Amino acid sequence: MRILGISGSPRRDEVSGTRTLVETVLQSTGLDYDLVSLRDKNISGCTACLGCTGDNVCKLEDDMASLRESVARAEAYVVGAPNHFSGCNALTRAFLERWFQFRHREGDLLWGKPGVAVGVGGMDGGPPAGDIEGFFLFNLIEPVASVTATGAAPCYSCGFGETCGIGVPRMRHGENVEIGPEITPRVEDQPETMRAAARAGEHLGRILRDGWDRRQSALRAQERLMDWMAGK
Ligand SMILES: Cc1cc2nc3c(=O)[nH]c(=O)nc-3n(C[C@H](O)[C@H](O)[C@H](O)COP(=O)(O)O)c2cc1C
Repeated sequence: MRILGISGSPRRDEVSGTRTLVETVLQSTGLDYDLVSLRDKNISGCTACLGCTGDNVCKLEDDMASLRESVARAEAYVVGAPNHFSGCNALTRAFLERWFQFRHREGDLLWGKPGVAVGVGGMDGGPPAGDIEGFFLFNLIEPVASVTATGAAPCYSCGFGETCGIGVPRMRHGENVEIGPEITPRVEDQPETMRAAARAGEHLGRILRDGWDRRQSALRAQERLMDWMAGK
C-alpha cells in the first residue's frame, strides 16, 4: 500500500458520495492503495491524556490502534468527509485528532507527505475539505488537491422532505418539490465532479511516481501553516 484512503462518512458505502469520490481519486492514481471506511469503526476523539508524548503511540484502546500503522506507513493520504453542520463530521474529526500521537518531540513520521482532501455536503462540500486541509497542515502534510461536491442531504430520503419547510429539497427546488431520482444529487451524475476527482488522483499518482521530495514539501506545508495561523 502506497496511499491510504479514508472515507469518514457514517453512511453505507453504496450511498456515500464521500466514499465514491475518495475511491475515484485513489483509482486514478494508478498506484497501490488501501481504502478504509470509518463507518464501522469505534474511534474517540483525543482525550488530551498526553500518554503519547513519550513514544508517539496513542494509549487509547479503540479502533484507531489498528489503523496507526497504516497511517504511519502510507506515502500519501486521500481523506474524505461529509459536511455535518458546516464542518467535517465528528467521526472523521475524531480520527484526525488522534494524529496528535505522531507529532511529539519533532516526530516526523507524517511530515512532507502529500494529501488530497475530499468534502461532500448537501449544500456545500467546502467546509469539510477545508477542515481536512487544516489537519494536514498541522501535521506538515502538504495539501496537493481538493475535491468538493454536492451529495444528497438526508432530507431527500427521510420521508418528510416534500413537506418540511426547513429541509434541503424545498430550499433548493421550491415548495412544490417532488422528490425523485432526477432531483436527488449523486456525485456519480456530476461529470465535472468526477473529472475533478480523477484529475486529483492523476496528479497525486504523477507526483509520487516522479519522486516526491518530502523535505521540500514539509517546508512548503510549514509556510502555509504559518500563513494560515497569521490569518493570511
Ligand atoms: C447531522 C448532519 C448535518 C448536516 N449538516 C450539513 C451542513 O451543515 N451543510 C451541508 O451542506 N450538508 C449537511 N448535511 C448533509 C450531508 O453533508 C450530505 O448528506 C452529504 O451528501 C453526506 O455525504 P455522504 O453521502 O458521503 O455521507 C448534514 C447531514 C447530517 C446527517
